[in-house]
Amino acid sequence: MAVVSICSTKGGVGKTTLVICLADAFARQGGSVVILDADPNGHVAAWREMAGSETKVDVIPGVTEGTIQAHIEEASSRYSIVLVDLEGAASQSVTYAIAWSDLVLMPTKTSGMDLQELYRTYAVVQRTEKALRRQIAARAVFSQIPALKNRVSSHARGLVAGKGIPALTTEILHRPSAYQAMHFTGVTPAHPDGDAKAAQEVRATLSEILEILDREKQAA
Ligand SMILES: Nc1ncnc2c1ncn2[C@@H]1O[C@H](COP(=O)(O)OP(=O)(O)O)[C@@H](O)[C@H]1O
Ligand SMILES: [Mg+2]
Repeated sequence: MAVVSICSTKGGVGKTTLVICLADAFARQGGSVVILDADPNGHVAAWREMAGSETKVDVIPGVTEGTIQAHIEEASSRYSIVLVDLEGAASQSVTYAIAWSDLVLMPTKTSGMDLQELYRTYAVVQRTEKALRRQIAARAVFSQIPALKNRVSSHARGLVAGKGIPALTTEILHRPSAYQAMHFTGVTPAHPDGDAKAAQEVRATLSEILEILDREKQAA
């Protein structure tokens, strides 16, 4: 079992989209996975209803500050991966989720303002590390990268590395048809009808995450 939280102090950076895509890709590889929907907006729960029998991802809706720790504890005894989708804020739920995490993913777009929010999110992770007196693995995930990306994303990568924030190598590009349709149709990239290019980047992201979790486990 591994607990992976998806955090950002900002909304709209692609957290929920990433959570759903990763979970569905993992389930299609035969993995057992649950998403705890700890965002009061309930977007994951809405997606789950829409997807119906098209996915094997389990979702626990309506997770709150008061229940999140019990849900994580219970879910991690039953699933290989527990993903926690959080609201775009620095709430108590966010701190609890980080505290329970084997890995924290911090999706970010690449504009200056977005990077400021990434720094803030990483600071929340670092404060939680200090409170717990343990290291918590965390990675920035560059998301919604414009198709003509190269210079923009390498500049952002340089800034993020300069702040000492580790990042995934894999990037999620801006692909409206692939990633936005999912919230209306339930079809994620990993689905047989999903977008092939998006599916490839989601699979690459997932395997990078699984490698990190493996390494963390061996180091523990
Ligand atoms: N890679 C992407 N390409 C295009 N649109 C995206 C991508 N990721 C997310 N979006 C869109 O951006 C908006 C915010 O994404 P969402 O996952 O809800 O962010 P968050 O959970 O961080 O608030 C949604 O409309 C979503 O469809
Ligand atoms: Mg969200």
